[in-house]
Amino acid sequence: MPGLQIGIDLGTTSILVYVRGKGVVLHEASVAALDAKTGDVLALGNRVYQMVGRNPDSLRVVHPMRDGVISDFSVIHAMIAYYIKRICGNRMFKPSVMICMPASVTGLERSAILELAIAAGAGRACLVEEPLAAALGAGMNIAYRGGQMIVDIGGGTTDVAVLTMGTMALSRSAKVAGNALSAAIQRYLRRERNVMVGDLTAEEIKRKVGCARLRSTELAIYTRGQSYITRLPTRLEVSSTESFLAMRERLDDIIDVIHRVLEETPPEMAGDIADQGVVLTGGGALLRDLDALLQERTQLRVRVAKDPVNCVALGLGVMMESQNILEENSYFYRTDDDIGEYARNRNL
Ligand SMILES: Nc1ncnc2c1ncn2[C@@H]1O[C@H](COP(=O)(O)OP(=O)(O)OP(=O)(O)O)[C@@H](O)[C@H]1O
Ligand SMILES: [Mg+2]
Repeated sequence: MPGLQIGIDLGTTSILVYVRGKGVVLHEASVAALDAKTGDVLALGNRVYQMVGRNPDSLRVVHPMRDGVISDFSVIHAMIAYYIKRICGNRMFKPSVMICMPASVTGLERSAILELAIAAGAGRACLVEEPLAAALGAGMNIAYRGGQMIVDIGGGTTDVAVLTMGTMALSRSAKVAGNALSAAIQRYLRRERNVMVGDLTAEEIKRKVGCARLRSTELAIYTRGQSYITRLPTRLEVSSTESFLAMRERLDDIIDVIHRVLEETPPEMAGDIADQGVVLTGGGALLRDLDALLQERTQLRVRVAKDPVNCVALGLGVMMESQNILEENSYFYRTDDDIGEYARNRNL
């Protein structure tokens, strides 16, 4: 089919677009500004990100993805349509679009996403499970006959999957990932320091001094907030130890998901994972010392993929560049007609 081939990683925090032959061409925040009265989409992506927590009453800032799945279809439709238009311009042929979604989405959600992609300007669309794309993007050989474990820690979800021979043998998804860690820092500062900090400040604290284990040499950051008692602006110093204490329970939740998948893994594959180690992808994998913490608590070798934030989009790229991987793993593009038939067959 003529026309561009595009891969979209629709994440809770960010949307990445890969264009075949070009690579990752777009990395935008998954946020939109809507007119508070009419609900019209006024602006999208990175331009809106800095408005989070600062928007005037006339604007409503929305996160159209929640916990890895679409929570606001009309905004996601507007986003995909806008980015397809930006990438394809006035090309005559509509693009083929590959979209990633968490392994846990239901059949109903699948057909809704496909329909949405076609309505937003795709000529044909295909859905790919996120852990598989992440593994390809991390450079793993998914055709390997043994078991391999991949852990993708995004903004909304942590997806743990065991792959074998190009398919997912088992997977689990939990709604605890990067956003939950930032929220834990906000709660800690309100409780222990009587200071409220906004979402962007909590994110900055996590990135600059956040760590998954206690450090022998402490890090600290000066930042701003609002006193919970006087409601006046205030400055405060936050240390890496405090960030660790704040995030500790949420980190335990992430470890629990990994443990549960390991418990459910059949012994042969568990042995393979012990040989191969575990690969971490997603922006959450960048948290300082997270690999060391997971290594200590699972007794497995843990490595962070090169370029963890881009892994899913790069994996879609690998799939597009090699049609074989698509066909061997039973992924097929669907057109408008297929989707109509699919919906009719399932009485949707
Ligand atoms: N240096 C860093 N240290 C700690 N966390 C980080 C760092 N860089 C990014 N993150 C976190 O990574 C998360 C975003 O990761 P990613 O872009 O993989 O998520 P996503 O794909 O949008 O979400 P999901 O896959 O859950 O839908 C955010 O919570 C962000 O705070
Ligand atoms: Mg993701």
